[in-house]
Amino acid sequence: MVRAGGPLEGSIRLPGDKSISHRALIFNAIACGRSRISGLLSAEDVRSTARCLGALGVSLGEDWVEGASGALSAPAGILDCGNSGTTLRLLLGVLAGQPFTAHLTGDASLRRRPMGRVIDPLTGMGAQFESSQGTPPVTVQGGPLQAGHIVSAVASAQVKSAVLLAGLQSTGELVFTEPRRSRDHTERMLAAMGVTLHTEVAADGRHTVRMSGSQALHCIDVDVPGDLSSAAFLLVAATIVPGSSICLEGVGLNPTRTGTLDVLRRMGADIGQVESGQASGEPIGTLRVLSAPLHGTEIGGAEIPRLIDELPVLAVAAALAAGETRIRDAAELRVKESDRISATVAFLRAMGCEVDETEDGMVIEGLGEGASLAPARVDASGDHRIAMAAAVAGLRGRGETVVDGADAIATSFPEFPGILESLRA
Ligand code: S3P
Repeated sequence: MVRAGGPLEGSIRLPGDKSISHRALIFNAIACGRSRISGLLSAEDVRSTARCLGALGVSLGEDWVEGASGALSAPAGILDCGNSGTTLRLLLGVLAGQPFTAHLTGDASLRRRPMGRVIDPLTGMGAQFESSQGTPPVTVQGGPLQAGHIVSAVASAQVKSAVLLAGLQSTGELVFTEPRRSRDHTERMLAAMGVTLHTEVAADGRHTVRMSGSQALHCIDVDVPGDLSSAAFLLVAATIVPGSSICLEGVGLNPTRTGTLDVLRRMGADIGQVESGQASGEPIGTLRVLSAPLHGTEIGGAEIPRLIDELPVLAVAAALAAGETRIRDAAELRVKESDRISATVAFLRAMGCEVDETEDGMVIEGLGEGASLAPARVDASGDHRIAMAAAVAGLRGRGETVVDGADAIATSFPEFPGILESLRA
């Protein structure tokens, strides 16, 4: 339950980035040597990755991994990836090159998510898969792989990472092309682990990674930056609650992730940024946010992969901005942990906003400065980011906002309720 209250004030350090935490575990698990990981996200999704790696014979603890030098063991049972698409898709890329059969599944949400986007290219490289309707459960029979030119229809870092992980175990040269550049944590971490790869962005926005196969990984210690996708909930919260002033320290500021900062600033948000250096090849810094009135904007095109996970909370900012906001080119939202277009439209409407649902986004009629949202009981749809976005909206509610299914927050940001409370003290 959330109620409107006083301004948000104070300074906090965000928990570790989820994407980088998964990669730090998986990449070091197949590398040679022992690595230390500091700032690893302690949340359900990352625990799913650690559990699966353990079942594949990898020794690992809270802050260390003993690399298996590319040779995993056949798991005794089914690998349960929980709610985590990153775990399942990246592991398929690894398992495509391992000489055994593995079965992977997940919770009800993950069992609805499309895996054909990973299964198809990995099948072309030589692995064999079984799955009914292209959704989990998935069985993979790994084997010798041959690289080639893979063209992905979606801009997806999970697809790119799965293909690159298979590429490392392949013969020949791998060329991977995606329609827009997705987050590049994999390219950065692989390069830091000794892999030679080249990337280029064409004039039309297509992004290509080239890499020769049969490359070994050398383990690296990783210092995981704070998660900008988690920070986004607090950025919007401080922006829409009058009189707020907060500081977020040690946040990852990788330019393939910072679309949210661009959009919020374009809407009038007052967000200062000081880059303080690098953590394991990723730029990090401090964000300072003061509350500010917002106006509507257009969000689409190449910007979408740079802010895909933040769209539900950006829609909350739009609902309280003056004028219309149009979100387009975001059909990928329909195949996230929930159908995030329908789920976002549903909770904003329940809170009294005028929102039109479109196939690839939504059009939000902003209520403007000083407006408040109607008291409502909303359903998180089993989705951590919907739960947190609805809670942020509740900070400008006229009464109580009850979020059913808020326990989903443990997937990525278990500290969120406590941090929000401490900033409102
Ligand atoms: C992620 C990539 C994105 C993102 C997800 C994490 C990753 O998904 O939405 O939360 O860590 O690679 P897609 O690759 O499906 O776009």
